[in-house]
Amino acid sequence: MSTERVVGTNVPRKEGPAKVLGTAKYVDDLTLPGMLHGATVRSSIARGKILSVRFPERIAWDEFTIATAEDIPGRNFVAMFLEDQPLLVPVGPDARVNHPEEPILLLAHANRERLAEAVAAVEIEYEPEPGVFSIEDSESLKEVIWGSVRSGNANTFKRFHLERGEVDRAFAEADFIVEGEYRTGAQEQLYIETNGMIAEADAGHVTVWGSMQCPFYVHRALKAMFGLGDEAVRVIQTETGGAFGGKEDYPSILAGHCALLALKSGRPVKMIYDRAEDMAATTKRHPSRTRHRTAVNKEGKLLACDIEVVIDGGAYATLSSTVCSRATIHAAGAYQWPAVRVRSSAVATNTPPSGAFRGFGAPQSLFAIERHMEKIARVVGLTPEELRRRNFLTTGGTTATGQLLRDPVDMGGLLDQALAAAGYHEKRRRFAAENATAIIKRGIGFAAFMHGAGFTGSGERYLNSLVGLEGTREGKVRVLVSSSEFGQGTNTILSQIAAEAMGADYADIEVAQPDTSVVPNSGPTVASRTAMIVGKLVERAGHALVETLRLAELLGERYTPAEFCASVRRHVERFGELKAYERYKAPGTIFWDDQKYMGDAYPTYAWAVYVAEVAVDMTTYTPSVSEFHALQEVGRVLHPVLAAGQIEGGVAQGIGYALYEEVVSEQGRMLNNQMTNYIMPTSADLPEIHVHFAETPFAHGPFGAKGIGELPMDGPAPAILNAIEDATGIAFNEVPLMPEDVFAAVHARAGQPRESDALILTMS
Ligand code: MOS
Repeated sequence: MSTERVVGTNVPRKEGPAKVLGTAKYVDDLTLPGMLHGATVRSSIARGKILSVRFPERIAWDEFTIATAEDIPGRNFVAMFLEDQPLLVPVGPDARVNHPEEPILLLAHANRERLAEAVAAVEIEYEPEPGVFSIEDSESLKEVIWGSVRSGNANTFKRFHLERGEVDRAFAEADFIVEGEYRTGAQEQLYIETNGMIAEADAGHVTVWGSMQCPFYVHRALKAMFGLGDEAVRVIQTETGGAFGGKEDYPSILAGHCALLALKSGRPVKMIYDRAEDMAATTKRHPSRTRHRTAVNKEGKLLACDIEVVIDGGAYATLSSTVCSRATIHAAGAYQWPAVRVRSSAVATNTPPSGAFRGFGAPQSLFAIERHMEKIARVVGLTPEELRRRNFLTTGGTTATGQLLRDPVDMGGLLDQALAAAGYHEKRRRFAAENATAIIKRGIGFAAFMHGAGFTGSGERYLNSLVGLEGTREGKVRVLVSSSEFGQGTNTILSQIAAEAMGADYADIEVAQPDTSVVPNSGPTVASRTAMIVGKLVERAGHALVETLRLAELLGERYTPAEFCASVRRHVERFGELKAYERYKAPGTIFWDDQKYMGDAYPTYAWAVYVAEVAVDMTTYTPSVSEFHALQEVGRVLHPVLAAGQIEGGVAQGIGYALYEEVVSEQGRMLNNQMTNYIMPTSADLPEIHVHFAETPFAHGPFGAKGIGELPMDGPAPAILNAIEDATGIAFNEVPLMPEDVFAAVHARAGQPRESDALILTMS
């Protein structure tokens, strides 16, 4: 049994009272003296040159600040991996618009209402060129249309090739070769608070306040755009209403726009996107196509996989290489493969850039493998369950990247537990018997998977994160990190870890507002890394701080939280301050080869089995999820309520991904960019979600914790489509799966419409 006082308990959320009382300040709640409002004039075409921009006389333009690419004091690109995305598209023959809604110029005015009319009045003359709008179109392009940054790799942002073992020999010796193709669509992050920013700027300084995940990403981008040094740029994260990856890369653009208007006008400027602009113009999940070829023997032993993953990056690189990397590494799933080949690429199209979204490529490639396993089972003649049992990764096993699993892995045990909790065997039999005559067909299916927590490969070494703890005059301890709270519980769990490590009261821990002039760079709040990586640094800093108090002879071996608090107060009184900083050190057992893309891809993995029960109404062709069980092994659970909340939210988002959320586009432009026609599941559409945790403490995580933020996004889509196959006998291999798709498949199988179906056709 654990002896912990704070970790593992449901302490009140640190930011809870301010949110409940309405005193939390989101960026749109802030007003600076003399502040203007800003808006963006965007491209109405997908691709082409800008010939001219005209400002018709009916608008009093002298009341507006107008900023263009020519006003950018530094370099006109958004700093990410490649320097390919301009902050504003320049007017003239040398530049091109590459996607609909691409920013061309910016307007500011004191009156928010006057802006919309002015934005609509700007007349832009284009020389349109044909665009590329799908993975297939991009692949088949002969001409290199993004030549400047993608030398040698026509229209491809990034490629990976992962290979281990004798793949071709395995295929030559296989009893069966099973092929399949799987697709996933775009998805909108749909955070409650849309993107927003306020900026102040002069020739030597830029300060921004806004909704974001990664203050130091914005900091780096602003330095490049404005040609300023570290100290001249200050970025402050305001209360943030959800993010899901959608505020990882995009806020750098909005901060740049806002600061440019502030610089040009000499006034503070606020820019807040409305929902329609946020949905149409900002990033979404990468659509994907994954092809599997699998060599397997008669006993159902997997011999080799040959997997090709392609993701649609949209018009600029943003984080596509990272998303592609995670898709590649997770593509072979939670299985032991004697031989592995995964080739992947992120291709360019003329749609708004795809970006980070919870799961980062893993939901795409795990959907493919977990659907493909059902097909392999059918071909070999095993149940989906038995096929997986014969091939699961286990303790001492080796992942696709050659990572030896030293820590305990028990997928078979998780499968037993999850299937028992869901009543899987009984339901599978019962549904099969009932479905023959039922109009509402029921099915049950599952997905088994893992998610690597933290940055991939050498990522954490490069990030080199730093965290601090600081004693206050009142005897409290402030956590100094750039990690941001956006509803997921960062401030709460980091406070729990600090309190536990120091023997302090949870109530005596404060978390500093992420402000680049105050907090050290503890890295971005992404990739399920905050609890595990930053949390471990907070734990170590806590121990260091206790050590400092002991060396000053202000703290004995045993003490109460009240004595700890008094000792902090005395230290600050006597020495003027109390601080402890800790920097990331990779566990000595971790090795990664960037060249071969082999080795320990992640410090550890969370392991899971998700079971979905579905109902498919054969009169309306509507599938729905009637019950859901999510079982995961996530190391130590730091805060049961928050952890379960992460899982429930992720499952809900995964159900939306599978059955509801369809981005409809025409010529690269999203047509359903409103919450009235981009349908996400509401509480009325969601089943009861049963969350189960297995806890195997991870040696390098704080008090044994692993990351969990992204994991629950991976399992729902394949589990649901597996259940729908169980219910209907139809293998659907693409999400989102809409009622129209069920309708079409039922008819394709039946050969011709039945009478009742013909009726429905006439009615619609
Ligand atoms: Mo995330 S998709 O790691 O912000």
